[in-house]
Amino acid sequence: MKVVIRDNSAKGSLWAAHYIARRINEKAAITDKPFVLGLCTGSTPIETYAELIRMVRDGEVSFKNVISFNMDEYVGLPESHPESYHSFMHRYLFDHIDEPAENIHILNGNAPDPVAECKAYEEAIVKAGGFDLFLGGVGEDGHIAFNEPFSSLQSRTRVVTLTQDTREVNSRFFDNDINQVPRQALTVGVATVLSSKEVVILAFGSKKARALKDAIEGPMSHYCTLSGLQNHPAGTIVCDELSVGELKVNSYRYFKAVEEAEGC
Ligand code: GLP
Repeated sequence: MKVVIRDNSAKGSLWAAHYIARRINEKAAITDKPFVLGLCTGSTPIETYAELIRMVRDGEVSFKNVISFNMDEYVGLPESHPESYHSFMHRYLFDHIDEPAENIHILNGNAPDPVAECKAYEEAIVKAGGFDLFLGGVGEDGHIAFNEPFSSLQSRTRVVTLTQDTREVNSRFFDNDINQVPRQALTVGVATVLSSKEVVILAFGSKKARALKDAIEGPMSHYCTLSGLQNHPAGTIVCDELSVGELKVNSYRYFKAVEEAEGC
């Protein structure tokens, strides 16, 4: 696992956007096959998306041959609701880039048969060629996508029940009223994320410090599902100084030394 530590979230977000664009451009230079990208929601990726939008506008990258799959969606929230992940993605990314509409995939939280919806999603990912890169965030309890504590590290796309903690944290998007936060979601599994050739996780701010300590220094455990990244050959956590505040000094120094030696 690599841990790229930047001074603040603005610098970390730029690093992530440039990294993703570089990967898209590298693949486009050698093949016509689409770049298959996993995407996340939350406040964390917004600055990364803003920089990708700028890069598309300035001709530095194109999403014309990108196929994307989002991580998750609430169950039962209308797509048109401002806090649905459908609305979020269009507001912060898709409405401003050149990705063809038919290449955009987001789980349907209102599917009449959610189990069939999840199965079809996994099949569509395989049909697209599998993920080249998965961009994710992390919850305060270390969850990746909506893989709450006690999700199997072998899990695949499925219906999940959200924890009280997650619903409380996310109630800030729902008038601070936990009762408005859906109780369930559809989410890709930990194994779905880890099936990607490369995984890039964003984590900014002191609220993520415990999650990063558990994921980086703790044992691999279903209690902190981001810790599954320890078993991935190409996993990178892009973070800021605040979010690594609980790492051991020696861990921090080592990641900084790697950055210096390898020039990330
Ligand atoms: C939700 C999403 C996750 C996201 C997390 C953190 O639980 N399902 O994918 O990583 O929130 O959100 P934020 O970036 O707002 O801290």
